[in-house]
Amino acid sequence: MKYAAPRGTKDILPNETPLWQWVEAACREVFELYNYKEIRTPVFEATELFSRSIGTSTDIVKKEMYTFPDRKGRSLTLRPEETAPVVRACLENNLISPDNLVKLYYFGPMFRYERPQAGRQRQFHQAGVEAFGSADPLLDAEVIQMSVKLFEKLGLKDLEVDINSVGCPKCQPKFREAIKKYFTQNITKMCADCQERLEQNPLRILDCKEPVCQKYIEKAPAASDYLDPECKDNFEQVLKSLESLKVRYRVNDRLVRGLDYYTMTTFEVVSKQLGAQNAVCGGGRYDDLVAELGGKPTPAMGFAVGLERVIEIIRQLKIENRQLKIGIELFVATIGEEARKVGFDLITKARENGISSDIDYLGKSLKAQMKAADRMNAKYVYIIGEDEIVKRSAALKNMKTAEQKEVGFDGLIAEIRKGVK
Ligand code: HAM
Repeated sequence: MKYAAPRGTKDILPNETPLWQWVEAACREVFELYNYKEIRTPVFEATELFSRSIGTSTDIVKKEMYTFPDRKGRSLTLRPEETAPVVRACLENNLISPDNLVKLYYFGPMFRYERPQAGRQRQFHQAGVEAFGSADPLLDAEVIQMSVKLFEKLGLKDLEVDINSVGCPKCQPKFREAIKKYFTQNITKMCADCQERLEQNPLRILDCKEPVCQKYIEKAPAASDYLDPECKDNFEQVLKSLESLKVRYRVNDRLVRGLDYYTMTTFEVVSKQLGAQNAVCGGGRYDDLVAELGGKPTPAMGFAVGLERVIEIIRQLKIENRQLKIGIELFVATIGEEARKVGFDLITKARENGISSDIDYLGKSLKAQMKAADRMNAKYVYIIGEDEIVKRSAALKNMKTAEQKEVGFDGLIAEIRKGVK
């Protein structure tokens, strides 16, 4: 093979796209049910947008961004996530105003230079939402509930909502100091990454998956002990609202997210079905980001779902999706040139009537055409030869039941419509 897809990227092939489309349609349906509107932004942005918002000492900015100069020497980066681009787009297009709650959703590829493994790619896809303009804890609960509703709709079970509060800029530094102090005692026994994190981003140590670090992480101070009274009260209100929405959650005070912009509520939805990369969704509040990027202070909250991971679980669970559109409705098999012309007119008419259909373009024998129709997952095959042209009627074969029925050319569309319902 001369060329292969770059490491950490994958083609999504025609036999997989129906499942992707089904998942995307479910996301759209749920997001729109909660009044979110779609936004689409470029896949690359000025590098500074990401370093400013995600944080210069995070793994994403330090090690994982695809950054390159363009032909005029401007530094651009393929988006590693979509929250910062959405904030940028809102500010640039004046979408955020004080008396308005702006609710947006998006789909698209994201790019992170990570070590590829199951559930982790260098180009992966997210579906996400961002809501701007309200600090109401009920909005936190609604956003979290929406993610749960989405997974329910997709038939995903055994998911857990992990939730935490990382506090506000007033209490965060106290917690960071406490964490730093605590880990300093044992840092030489911990992994090289954690040793590096201690100075630059000590909270990230809590997220380390290395076995040697676990026993120290287990006994580390909890964020909840350092929350100031307002943050504590806010977190309690979020939890209460979740309870009233009947969303089950687990408070996980080890939950620190890989991006620095979070304040207060953070959450992840985790699946037992997946291996080490088990978060199917992550998000939280980021009340300071809009101001940080040049806007007026605007509270905000959102999440992003990792679509590859969701699709992997659906595959493992073998969730039956009868909605998946994997075949065509009609294949017209023809014998001889004249029949091909008639057949072509028939599929043209079928398509005009919204019936997906196809015909042979390779001069195949009838037997080979029947095989091709089978591979295309055709629901019906209509078989036309010389005699059929004369009588303007032919056999319509239901490929599932193998039943055949004589149907006139003029009645074909009505007959297929009857069966396709
Ligand atoms: P994140 O946790 O970095 O958050 O990513 C969200 C989800 O994207 C993860 O839970 C995971 O399912 C998926 N994901 C991340 N990296 C990879 C990868 N390399 N391969 C496959 N899937 C991956 C964010 O991106 C935030 N922007 C979410 C957010 C929105 N917070 C507020 N609003």
